[in-house]
Amino acid sequence: MDTPVTFNEDVDSWKTVMFLYNSALKEVGTKLEILRDEFQYIHKYNPIEYIKSRIKEPESIVKKLRRYGYEISIENMVKYINDIAGVRLICSFTSDIYRLAEMIGNQSDLKVLSIKDYIKNPKESGYSSYHMIVEVPVKLTQKTIYVKCEIQIRTLAMDFWASFEHKVKYKTKNDVNPKMSKELVSCAKMINKFDTKMINYK
Ligand code: GTP
Ligand code: MG
Repeated sequence: MDTPVTFNEDVDSWKTVMFLYNSALKEVGTKLEILRDEFQYIHKYNPIEYIKSRIKEPESIVKKLRRYGYEISIENMVKYINDIAGVRLICSFTSDIYRLAEMIGNQSDLKVLSIKDYIKNPKESGYSSYHMIVEVPVKLTQKTIYVKCEIQIRTLAMDFWASFEHKVKYKTKNDVNPKMSKELVSCAKMINKFDTKMINYK
């Protein structure tokens, strides 16, 4: 049996770190695809519209460490940034989100480190989504390393809002005026109403 080691004790270079995050992303992606396929097989219904995954850009990692007030180092990035590996699950219905979250929680080799339910408690911006930080074992020849990955689960409508809002923020260099902010919150409420109505058609 190989000995599990914690990630930060063992990480020495950027390349190693990125290799591990990429491997974690593959592991989580495959697990989610299998969950989806099994669900389709048993229930004849697919709860996932699509799966997107990405590795955080180096500039974004540095920006986030600065924002958090940490020195820029590989150790700090591994320790404090949870979304270097990120997977997004897009569903049709809000109820699918909770179903998927439960299925993810029940996976024996995924450890759920934290959950943020921005559907029950939307952010001030209006942002709504279900976030899980999980730890996945990456099995190498000599050892097993546990790597963090962020899973965001949202409906098509929530995703539409989030990408729109992201573009608006990016365009205005994060300087969204109060009127625009209010409008975005109001759109988020409409999106929420829409999702609530759509449940009736499931
Ligand atoms: P970050 O430092 O922004 O990652 O916040 P956090 O560590 O407190 O995590 P949180 O769960 O709040 O947000 C994580 C991710 O959710 C972000 O990186 C975005 O992808 C997404 N997100 C959070 N808030 C918003 C928002 O107001 N608008 C949009 N478009 N996306 C958001
Ligand atoms: Mg983030």
